[in-house]
Amino acid sequence: MLKDKNILIGITGGIAAYKVCNLIRLFKKAEANVRVVLTPNALNFVTKLTLQTLSGNEVYIDNFEIDEYKPEHISLTEADIFVIAPASANTISKLANGICDNLLLSTACAFNKPMLIAPAMNENMWNNKFIQENIEKLQRSGMFILNPAEGFLACGANGTGRMREPEEIYEKVNEILTQGNRAPLKGKKFLITAGGTREKIDPVRYITNASSGKMGLAIADSASKMGADVTLVSTFESNGDWENIIAETAQEMSDIVDKKLPEMDCVIMAAAVSDYKVKNYSEQKIKKTDSDTMSIELVKNPDILKQISAEKNSNQLVIGFCAESENLIENAKKKIQAKGCDLIIANDISRKDIGFNSNENEVYIIDKNLNEKKLDKDTKQNISKDILNYILVLLQDKERETLLTK
Ligand SMILES: Cc1cc2nc3c(=O)[nH]c(=O)nc-3n(C[C@H](O)[C@H](O)[C@H](O)COP(=O)(O)O)c2cc1C
Repeated sequence: MLKDKNILIGITGGIAAYKVCNLIRLFKKAEANVRVVLTPNALNFVTKLTLQTLSGNEVYIDNFEIDEYKPEHISLTEADIFVIAPASANTISKLANGICDNLLLSTACAFNKPMLIAPAMNENMWNNKFIQENIEKLQRSGMFILNPAEGFLACGANGTGRMREPEEIYEKVNEILTQGNRAPLKGKKFLITAGGTREKIDPVRYITNASSGKMGLAIADSASKMGADVTLVSTFESNGDWENIIAETAQEMSDIVDKKLPEMDCVIMAAAVSDYKVKNYSEQKIKKTDSDTMSIELVKNPDILKQISAEKNSNQLVIGFCAESENLIENAKKKIQAKGCDLIIANDISRKDIGFNSNENEVYIIDKNLNEKKLDKDTKQNISKDILNYILVLLQDKERETLLTK
């Protein structure tokens, strides 16, 4: 799979540097081309001669030893992936802040293809607040992080901080290069709802809303393309790489979502669910009468978002949508507090160019701390990818929290 792939390995000053010799051998066995760049501190842990011999290539350390016209930090970026292993606390923090004071860091700054970071350090360093914040920054920027494992550390302690084994790093590279950035949600189960529910009045009439289901459908499509295992619960039939379950009414949707919740990593409630349903459904078609008016009594439907937000466990994410025609942000913030979900995606339905039935949208992502992030007007496909990338980081954060509390 990795035959003829160009792999750039960055080694920093950590004791796990010696293990990277094995990683190079694994890549060479797979007939990949390997180039190595080291921080000057890494040279205390592994020799240039060893790396040169194993990789069969020149090894790079210094910014200013330029033989050819082409600066190395640019020529080194001509690789399919940049793997920094081990990534020291120092290098992680510099990367997260755009510092480029050695060749490895300058190369990373100029690198625009997948980057994989395999941190290795003492447990207290890994748990350090600043290191965690910097790791989060790198993750948000799209870098792949192979969180360190628990075990015996070189400092003599047992804890979380061990660099992942060369075989695991090799597998991750294989996964990234064969599936690309396209499958970051692999192994995750997503349930997405879409469409406007229909509340039946009689066999031929119903109350519904203007939701087209396009946003939910776009999210289902993007999630599946990003590798997630998707269940789409929609009011309409759809074709795609997902399990499609049809729910017509809010009650039907509620029953399905409730049943499926325990197996999901993330539920995205993009459907426009009726707040009310008809109290007395008529089995027969209601006849016109002489009266000029008629009234239908409505009763409340289950509040699916609130219900599943209360039921979910701490590893699951529940995301709601908020369609508003006025005071968008204010109402969205009230909604996230009232429902207890993890995020609210707010969109303005008073605008004709976005929202219901349109192919484009412009949304605000509101989190539990009431921070807002605007996703500028774009196709629903692109907006859905941005929403899923945001969710991906939250899921990775949860994985990291689990690891830290183990
Ligand atoms: C014996 C020894 C082992 C070290 N191991 C680690 C380590 O595993 N992880 C780490 O983040 N720093 C480790 N350090 C500290 C780094 O070498 C130091 O922070 C250095 O500035 C890293 O530089 P670099 O990121 O430019 O390579 C170690 C230092 C020594 C002396």
